[in-house]
Amino acid sequence: MEFPCSALLLLLLLLLANFYPKPASSELVLEYGYTVTTVLDGDKLQIPIHPFSVLPRARTQDLLLLDSVNSNFYIVSFPISPDSGISRFSGNGTGLSDGRPLAAMFHHPRSFAVDSKGTLYVADRNNHAIRKISSSGVTTIAGGFSKKPGRSDGPAQNASFSDDFDLVFVPKICALLISDRGNRLVRQMNLKPEDCERESRLELGVPLVSVIGVLCLLVGLLSGFAVRPFLISHTGRLGRPLFRQDVEALPNHSGETSTDNLLRHQKRNC
Ligand SMILES: *[C@@H]1O[C@H](CO)[C@@H](O)[C@H](O)[C@H]1NC(C)=O
Repeated sequence: MEFPCSALLLLLLLLLANFYPKPASSELVLEYGYTVTTVLDGDKLQIPIHPFSVLPRARTQDLLLLDSVNSNFYIVSFPISPDSGISRFSGNGTGLSDGRPLAAMFHHPRSFAVDSKGTLYVADRNNHAIRKISSSGVTTIAGGFSKKPGRSDGPAQNASFSDDFDLVFVPKICALLISDRGNRLVRQMNLKPEDCERESRLELGVPLVSVIGVLCLLVGLLSGFAVRPFLISHTGRLGRPLFRQDVEALPNHSGETSTDNLLRHQKRNC
């Protein structure tokens, strides 16, 4: 009994596979409606820069731009245009030096990540190190002792990375994930709880506030709608309204409610 059943299943699968449309490998599907615009030309700036990558800067309208050739980070005001304000954020020539962001040096970094506090984590490849740019300055958080290519795990200052690695910040686990291409490894570096503290409060705080807001709005709306017909039909005859405040909020018997009154009504309900 078992064999015919699985054979039938196989036949069905084969049939499905045959009928499923296969895209021809050489076929392009051109979707129209998009536009490309140059918003910043590194050659046309007073001090030429070589954009390597850009990332939005948390909690600001700005972008962070990495110039890998000159080992500098810039802040570009948004929206980007030839008139955008551009200022150096960190970096001071090629080298290895921590401290004040504008005096610190990087060695042709080619990847960085930003957390929601605005802290940067830099894959400083030629220094074989991971650097952190926070409000308190630039520090080396991994590879500070090794400073040479390798694939050692362990305490981060003694860990080593290949010549080609990239990183992303993963808030959910408060860690950096490192794609160590040169070693064909994915590696994880846990950050300190304080690196992510504001992060998690932000993540929790924003939805909580919006949930409370939406609930308030709903309760306000629902009670407004529930009470209104009652008021309209009863207040005239009863003389003394049951909900004095609500009657004040609902202006007249015709049922017209101005937005202002509805809003005031909702505020009271919250
Ligand atoms: C890390 O490297 C430093 C400097 O080479 C050395 O003194 C220290 O013992 C090393 N730590 C570990 C855990 O290997």
